Amino acid sequence: MKLPANEAPSLDYRAKVPHKARRNYLTSDRSKHLTLLKSASIATSVLAVVLSSESLAQEADGERLFRQRCSSCHSLEAGQNRTGPSLAGVNGRAAGSVEDARYSPALRDSDVVWNSETLDRFLANPRQFVPGTTMSISVTNEAQRRALAEFLTASGRGTP
Ligand code: HEC
Repeated sequence: MKLPANEAPSLDYRAKVPHKARRNYLTSDRSKHLTLLKSASIATSVLAVVLSSESLAQEADGERLFRQRCSSCHSLEAGQNRTGPSLAGVNGRAAGSVEDARYSPALRDSDVVWNSETLDRFLANPRQFVPGTTMSISVTNEAQRRALAEFLTASGRGTP
């Protein structure tokens, strides 16, 4: 067949080669193919387990997060100030108001009152929320931040 110069060769012809190769693969390599499928499904279940334990971990535990990320500098006992002020009774408290705690002028002079919303915003980016604060620990994970704010404002813990 003589093609006009401006037309591409027939698609039909080019499609034949991969098709034939595929048929060969299916007949001669069927068992290999099945093994491949099996290991793929095992890999999928392993992945599912990993993913579900990960999402469990994402249901952040505020108390555990506090212990891991805050307790080196903050106590939950009233009157126990470490590098940071005690966070006992932090809910509803004016920022920078714990007696005998060491504060930056920035935090002391801020008009912030702590509640779950202000805690969330502070923890997301302390220096942006209170420019000049010496507290530099931020919690970028939203679920973890919420869990921490909830933990700190829960009655009987952060509330006086
Ligand atoms: C490396 C020590 C350190 C760690 C870790 C730390 N903080 Fe702080 N935090 C401070 C310091 C210091 C201040 C006082 C900041 C200032 O005066 O500007 C502070 C202040 C605060 C305040 C304000 C308290 C008040 O009385 O106004 C809150 C709330 C707070 N931190 C929460 C947390 C949470 C929640 C965590 C854990 C995610 C955490 N901090 C981890 C050192 C730390």
